[in-house]
Amino acid sequence: MRKIDIFDTTLRDGEQSAGINLNTQEKIEIAKQLERLGVTIIEAGFPASSPGDFDAVNRIAGTVKNSIVTGLARCVQKDIDTTWEALKVAEQPHIHVFLATSPIHMEYKLKKSPEQVLEQAVEAVKYAKKFFPLVQWSAEDGFRTDRQFLVKIIEKVIEAGATTINVPDTVGYASPQEYGELFKFLRENVNGAHKVKFSAHCHDDLGMAVANSIAAIQNGADQVECTINGIGERAGNASLEEIGVAMHIRKDIYEIETGLNLKEIKRTSQLVSRLTGVVIQPNKAVVGKNAFAHESGIHQDGVLKHKETYEIISPALIGEEEVDLVLGKHSGRAAFRDRAVKMGYELSDEKLNKAFQEFKKLADRKKEITEEDLITLLTDQQVSV
Ligand code: KIV
Ligand code: ZN
Repeated sequence: MRKIDIFDTTLRDGEQSAGINLNTQEKIEIAKQLERLGVTIIEAGFPASSPGDFDAVNRIAGTVKNSIVTGLARCVQKDIDTTWEALKVAEQPHIHVFLATSPIHMEYKLKKSPEQVLEQAVEAVKYAKKFFPLVQWSAEDGFRTDRQFLVKIIEKVIEAGATTINVPDTVGYASPQEYGELFKFLRENVNGAHKVKFSAHCHDDLGMAVANSIAAIQNGADQVECTINGIGERAGNASLEEIGVAMHIRKDIYEIETGLNLKEIKRTSQLVSRLTGVVIQPNKAVVGKNAFAHESGIHQDGVLKHKETYEIISPALIGEEEVDLVLGKHSGRAAFRDRAVKMGYELSDEKLNKAFQEFKKLADRKKEITEEDLITLLTDQQVSV
């Protein structure tokens, strides 16, 4: 099994989601939970961006001991100095410096030539290296960067002392095949590639963030950057729980170890949802309310006979309690009988059938059948003669 580092950026890229604003106490609570979840690196914020971010990164760095804590910085000395002030208390100080490298970003946003960008990146990494043993450099919009320029700038920042190279798909434009191929290309064509870790950072604008991250892993990435519940800029980042559980459930094909304590997934997801106020869509893979809810009669009958007919992930794996089968208009007799028995009703086949018919009529009128509805239906049959 190959080990992949999980770099969690819920508190940085995740907090960049429109409408989210976490205070320091809430960030510390999330960071401690991420540590329990077993993430390798926690990106705790962007210290130079505000006094609040500085304080949160500093306090998290002083609190978390079993995950590396990092902070984001632009490739400018002032940011690097501030980040060092925030992170010098950390067990293993780590900085994440970034600079855009795509033609559109260099020309319109930075208004700099490729040569100027290259020089700025190299100077920043050299400067960061004076303080930090671990320096990650990101080529922002790396996926849309000219390949030759990307190789050149990566080689120079490796010479300058970078220990991790991140190549983000900043705008979520890549397809899995293309993004995977980029990592293979970089591994094979960058001089000094063997000295560093390569990292994938994917956004979900076209719904490809998790697939792209996995393609990168399969093509030599050593680290994936992700967020809890997939929160992040615009459509969000790759979701940690989906990558972590996919690596586990399909270890037969991926052969990857993440070091995650998957039993903490549900708790972490709920905590982040509660503190950010971002509701998890019910059909969200792994952590959605309906992720283990079987509704149709055929599915329910299958699951009652053998769970794995329709369930590839056991709720217990992610620390979720066993969920009862949902009773609705698509449910069958088997699920209805199962629930009646679990509720302590002992009815003859005839009475159970009658109760089931009443249940079906009710389910046609009502979206959700409650425990109280079932008690009424079943008790009516129990007392009838
Ligand atoms: O999406 C992106 O490119 C980023 C960088 C700062 C790494 O978040
Ligand atoms: Zn990002």
